[in-house]
This record gives sequence, structure tokens and C-alpha cells, in this order.
Amino acid sequence: MEGVIDAVTRDLLTARGGIDWAVTEFVRVVDTRLPPRVFHKHCPELLSSQVTTPHGTPVHLQLLGSDPDALAANARQALKLGATGIDLNFGCPAKTVNRHDGGASLLRDPSRVQSAVEAVARAVEGVVPVTAKLRLGFADRRLARACAQAAEAGGAQQLVVHARTRNEGYRPPAHWEWIANVRHCVSIPVIANGDIWTLGDYWRARSLSGCDDVMIGRGVLADPDLPARIRHWQRTGECLPATSWNVRATILTHYAALQRTTLPERVVVSLLKQWLNHMRARDEQACSRFAALRRETQLDSFLEGLEKAYLAA
Ligand SMILES: Cc1cc2nc3c(=O)[nH]c(=O)nc-3n(C[C@H](O)[C@H](O)[C@H](O)COP(=O)(O)O)c2cc1C
Repeated sequence: MEGVIDAVTRDLLTARGGIDWAVTEFVRVVDTRLPPRVFHKHCPELLSSQVTTPHGTPVHLQLLGSDPDALAANARQALKLGATGIDLNFGCPAKTVNRHDGGASLLRDPSRVQSAVEAVARAVEGVVPVTAKLRLGFADRRLARACAQAAEAGGAQQLVVHARTRNEGYRPPAHWEWIANVRHCVSIPVIANGDIWTLGDYWRARSLSGCDDVMIGRGVLADPDLPARIRHWQRTGECLPATSWNVRATILTHYAALQRTTLPERVVVSLLKQWLNHMRARDEQACSRFAALRRETQLDSFLEGLEKAYLAA
């Protein structure tokens, strides 16, 4: 997730279990082949021999763009740098991205989805899988099936479908039942995405979409143990207890310790606020800590504030 889940966060989250693979923040492709440093910045895991997080979860590189030639050139570059999977972003709803013809804007024309995927699939020559991230459409869902079929025809080996149109942004509800429509018209695996915050959401998304697997974005920030909770239920049929504030505060403290080694303290404070903000939807302690600490600018005071709640929990 752009601006939210970097390599440090990926490692912290995947270390908690239940995550089969992760995807980088998107690398924005315009009309040139980007230098290696851009790929390494988005995906430092390229420097590890297997392209995994330090705890061993595979990481795929995501490209966002619309020019098939530029996407192909950057896919080749990524391959040369060791990428083990290329994901193409056709889901980003950001106005600036869409104005420059990227992300979800391609969903208005399935042939453009196909051309982009085809160019990348041809560039990587089957050496690594090419996958795609789609929404249900731009303004409406009329082209949802056509876009999925176009991605498959272009050579995508798997789709993640965020169950909203671009114009629906992040507004609930996610239309998981629509993922079933998409799933029925392609033969590649489809993974359901959107608004999976709890184990109950996972059950509902799974039964409405018919997908075995889900992709979780904000839900894993809100509850870092959600993937492990889902995996545990899949394996045992048992529900693990809710994630305590104690666990959340420990994760945030560890995150700060890692980030402060490379980032200025004020940046770390704002990253912590961002994560705490994601947590507060699912945890009362996070909610009260966020209210108490939202104006705090000093990193150590912020961490002490977390600790106070931690002791009170
Ligand atoms: C701040 C933010 C940044 C995101 N960046 C990306 C991104 O770089 N690539 C991507 O495929 N999706 C990105 N997404 C979309 C999420 O991956 C996901 O599809 C969406 O949030 C819905 O799933 P969720 O309800 O599980 O979060 C982003 C979402 C948010 C809120």
C-alpha cells in the first residue's frame, strides 16, 4: 500500500504469520525505464537471494502504468534485478494517477488492460508470474468481467479483485458477490479483496465471492494478527482471541525502533500516527491513545504515551 506498507512494515506484518506473499507499493511507470535504485527503494527485498522479507515471505513487485512499451521495459528491468513476480495495478483510484492515465483509469477500456498485461507477460517470457490487481470498474461494473477476461487473455496468471469500482473509492460496502461474477468468467485463480477487517468478514467474503483466498490491505494494519487468525481458523476451525492492546503497542514500538534507524524522528511520529489511526477502528485503546497523542511531535513522548496505555491495558 503506497505510503503505508514499506519493507519494514512488510516484514513486521508477515512475521506474524498467515500471509502467503506480499506486494510492494506500486512503482509508477510513465515513459522511461526506471533506474535500479527506484526498484530497490520500493523493493529492498530484491537484494535478498529469494526476494523475500527477512522472515521469508515472498514479495512481488507492483508496476503501475499504461504505456505497454514502458511497462515491458520496466518489467525486464525488474526481472534483471531479480524480481520473482510482477503485479500490475489497475485499481488505484487516486485522481492524479488516473488523470495521468494510470491505475483504475485503464478499466474503461479492457483492450488497454490486455495490451498492458500482454506486453509485460511477453517481456518476462514466463520466467516469473504476471498477476493483476483490478477493481470492478471505473464508474460502473459493466466492464468488470471483460476487464478480468482481458487480463487473463493478456497472460495474467492470477487476479486480485477489489470489490468496488473506482468511483466507489473506499466507501463501504465491498460488493463481494460481484467477485463471484468475475470469477465465473475466467479460469485463473481470483483472490477477493476489500473490507476484510475480521474473521467474520473473511467468512462472508469467502462465501459470497466463492474465492478460497483473500487479499487484505487496511485490515492487517487495523489488526496485524488477522491473517494468522484466518489461517488458524482454516487449519483448526477455532477462533483465536482478539488482538490485545498489549500486542498492538508492542508492534508499534518495534516498528518505531526499526524506522528511527533510517528516518527522521518527526517522520516516524507521523508514520506511527498513521498506523495507530488504522488500528483505532478496531480497538478502543488505540482509539483513546490516538486522541491523546494526535498532537504529539516528539517520538520518545509518543512512545511513552503508548506505553502508558500498554501498562493500563
Ligand atoms: C493508502 C492506501 C494505499 C494503497 N496503495 C496500494 C498500492 O500501492 N497497490 C495496490 O495494489 N493497492 C493499493 N491500495 C489498495 C489496497 O491494496 C486494497 O485494494 C484496498 O485498500 C481495499 O482493501 P482493504 O479493504 O483490505 O484495505 C492502497 C490503499 C490505501 C488505503
